[in-house]
Amino acid sequence: MNVQPDMPGRAATGPAFLSVWDIHAYYGESYIVQGVSFNVHEGEILALLGRNGAGKTSTLRAIARLSDPELRRGEVWLDHQPLHNMASHQASAAGLALVPEDRRIIAGLTVEENLKLAQIAPPIGWSLERLYELFPRLGERRNQEGVTLSGGEQQMLAIARALARDIKVLLLDEPYEGLAPVIVDEIEKTLALIKSQGITTVLVEQNAVRALKLADRAVILDTGGVVFDGSAADVLDNADLRAEYLAI
Ligand SMILES: Nc1ncnc2c1ncn2[C@@H]1O[C@H](COP(=O)(O)OP(=O)(O)OP(=O)(O)O)[C@@H](O)[C@H]1O
Ligand SMILES: [Mg+2]
Repeated sequence: MNVQPDMPGRAATGPAFLSVWDIHAYYGESYIVQGVSFNVHEGEILALLGRNGAGKTSTLRAIARLSDPELRRGEVWLDHQPLHNMASHQASAAGLALVPEDRRIIAGLTVEENLKLAQIAPPIGWSLERLYELFPRLGERRNQEGVTLSGGEQQMLAIARALARDIKVLLLDEPYEGLAPVIVDEIEKTLALIKSQGITTVLVEQNAVRALKLADRAVILDTGGVVFDGSAADVLDNADLRAEYLAI
């Protein structure tokens, strides 16, 4: 039987919902994720920030158990389940959903077909009805080909597709990228609604100020390691920290 080991900072509160413990990951011989640890509590939004090339995407990919970068050391636990020895499809079945930066909407399929495809195998999450309630624009465009949607709508479809499965944690890689501020407003509202439904979110964003205003806590990465772990409000209040690691 696997027993979740004790990790620093967990004694007072018990095991975190998602624990990332001293993970080291490589692209071939390139050593990129160099001992990253952080906890994500159930129901919170955690902003995972850092400059270009800090290792945010690589960290998300390692947590989601994609083969690249290869996780060679460390542990990832989700709700008492060890993910570090799983393949990505198993991590997905365990409740982890990664929405990558390029959104991966499937060409040739309508909005609804994209969503139904996500529900082809259990564990099935939100019903189409509930998804269209959260994303009315997707409901209006359900018969339109997914790749013909606007950037903001495609982002919504990518998030909806993640929720179409029964997930515990949503990992979002730069969901605001390339979107107009009014569309970012809309996605932000949606993320707040998703949070109110009990889903836990890790939000990677270049738009750090917006991410920090939405998030409960923040972790900042620099050259593949954690340089800050604390409340989002503390980062907003700390001009030195923002200038040094976020250039804002
Ligand atoms: N497939 C790859 N092969 C080799 N090195 C890679 C690969 N992908 C990323 N890297 C390197 O890993 C480091 C971290 O990249 P990563 O994409 O994780 O950073 P990031 O924080 O997501 O950056 P950005 O803000 O630009 O998205 C960078 O130095 C990058 O060049
Ligand atoms: Mg990235």
